[in-house]
Amino acid sequence: MAKRVLILNGPNLNLLGTREKSVYGSKSFAEIEATCKKTCADLGFVCDFRQSNHEGELVDWIQSARKTADAVIINPAAYSHTSVAIHDALRTLEMPIIEVHLSNIHQREAFRHHSYVSTVATGVICGLGAKGYTLAIQALADE
Ligand code: DQA
Repeated sequence: MAKRVLILNGPNLNLLGTREKSVYGSKSFAEIEATCKKTCADLGFVCDFRQSNHEGELVDWIQSARKTADAVIINPAAYSHTSVAIHDALRTLEMPIIEVHLSNIHQREAFRHHSYVSTVATGVICGLGAKGYTLAIQALADE
């Protein structure tokens, strides 16, 4: 059966391409979605790509992943630094979890240096821009 990859994006990522381009790059959110879908298709994966500005909705989607996904890639955006609820939801999953950040959060403000997601992630990719999503999908091919 094809591997089902759930790709979750947190708040404000829908504004990519127009938001702080010097930090997050000029690719639009729709372009990143298209690249993720193509990368998944090339590897024979089924891709479910989502974005929400709401913490509870992300928690609901992570809970659903228990039955509907084989791996999760997540850019929790600002919730990385604040959300125990997302941390708790992710730790119920028995599947690979890859955390992605476009920017290198460790080079930025101190409040971005800690992520509640990193301790429950299988791996973390940050600072490589949109390519981080592609690398995360490719990493799942070896799982
Ligand atoms: C981000 C980094 C976060 O600190 C920030 O709140 C974001 C995006 C990134 O992809 O670099 O919204 O997750």
